[in-house]
Amino acid sequence: MTATRDHAPVPEGATVARFLPDFVWGVAASAAQTESRNGRGPSNWDALCEARGAVLDGSTNALCTGFEERYPADLALLADAGVQAFRFSIAWPRVQPDGPGPADAAGLAVYDRMVDAMLERGITPWPTLFHWDVPTWAGDFRSRDICQRLADYAEIVACKLGDRVRQWIVLNEPNSVALRGYAAQVHAPALNSADAAYAAIHHQNLAQGLAFKALRATLPSGHRIGTTVNLQPVRAEDDSAENQAAAHMVDALWNRAFVDPLYGKGYPALIAERLAPFIHDGDMELIAVKPDFLGMNYYSRIYVRQVPGEVLGIAQGEAPQELPRTGYFHVEPEGLSEMLLRLHRDYAAPELYITETGFAMPDPPPRDGVVEDSDRIAHLASYLKAAQVAQAQGVRLKGLFYWSATDNWEWAQGFAKRFGLIHVDRDTLARTPKRSLGYFADCIRHNAALDAPSP
Ligand code: FCB
Repeated sequence: MTATRDHAPVPEGATVARFLPDFVWGVAASAAQTESRNGRGPSNWDALCEARGAVLDGSTNALCTGFEERYPADLALLADAGVQAFRFSIAWPRVQPDGPGPADAAGLAVYDRMVDAMLERGITPWPTLFHWDVPTWAGDFRSRDICQRLADYAEIVACKLGDRVRQWIVLNEPNSVALRGYAAQVHAPALNSADAAYAAIHHQNLAQGLAFKALRATLPSGHRIGTTVNLQPVRAEDDSAENQAAAHMVDALWNRAFVDPLYGKGYPALIAERLAPFIHDGDMELIAVKPDFLGMNYYSRIYVRQVPGEVLGIAQGEAPQELPRTGYFHVEPEGLSEMLLRLHRDYAAPELYITETGFAMPDPPPRDGVVEDSDRIAHLASYLKAAQVAQAQGVRLKGLFYWSATDNWEWAQGFAKRFGLIHVDRDTLARTPKRSLGYFADCIRHNAALDAPSP
């Protein structure tokens, strides 16, 4: 049985949003959250797992969902649902496990096969080159050395897959890496230093600029290269002057430190002075790549307050109590339209994709070959509606990727958060479709039917 042929009717209120023709319906995942450690070199996230207490449920990334071997099962379910695109990531520690220089042939071959398997099933591969997993030998973003290393790795992958892959995403959420990894100590490399965070901002931007340069020189024209940032409208917890100032600061660090320089606007004034020591002549020109598209990951707005003594003087506050909650974030569809409209306005109407949005829910266990997850469906429907509202106002929104294809290993949260359209059994790794996969299939089918030329 499959979810798509046996899915529940769309729940009340969960209308199927109508998008302009050629809208891309995809799912997203990452290597570090789905692949096992087998056959790859050690990484920054392996090190984080070994640190006691770093991962909430005490789990590690040793196996994840075993995706590098089990992807045919996932692709079969996704193809059956009509999913058109798969945003997956390439594991840098698998391609260059031990050091710089030529790729490990067996490691690269994993992605060769994966890409072919997607294409055989009519699913367009959308690889992300860097979704947070750094091979141990490459160091971290405090050092400028990593920038060219990352660009060289990107070039190796483009040479191998560029004959079949036409859509590329260079970085995933450099803002999460810089702030959660270098200031807040929650993600690898688990540092808590403002200087380290500022270095990580500039060096990720530079690595990205160099990678764009290498990809543009390597790939045939017509290939499209973009990048992905996690963007969230920022709200102060209250009206106090301190918390309003904190909101401006977080907006600069989180929403603008990566996107502004990408479009040639330089760094926001609020943080420019702290970044200046890391900038060499020519860096800002290299960084201003004006991508072919911008990927936005969106889950909710962010609420902040000032906390003197914290590394950057700011901390995440409480979202309003009345907002619905998932097992992880709160639900705020209006923030999605708000951020899409802002990007459209501030960066001269770029082509946009929602490269992640999704909901971690306390799903019931599978029963009779399916997982009943009606809350996820209702939340997803509200986000689709918000995306459609922005598109109707002229935003050039070209597609949406649900996070995630399957339940997976959610970084420092471990296995506790289930985001998938497909359930994964922790012990057997068996896959079971959820009702939400059927709902997603409905959305795709409905839009395709409306796009079809009338006879
Ligand atoms: C994003 C990450 C992704 C996943 C989701 C829930 O910030 O890009 O890997 O963890 O959040």
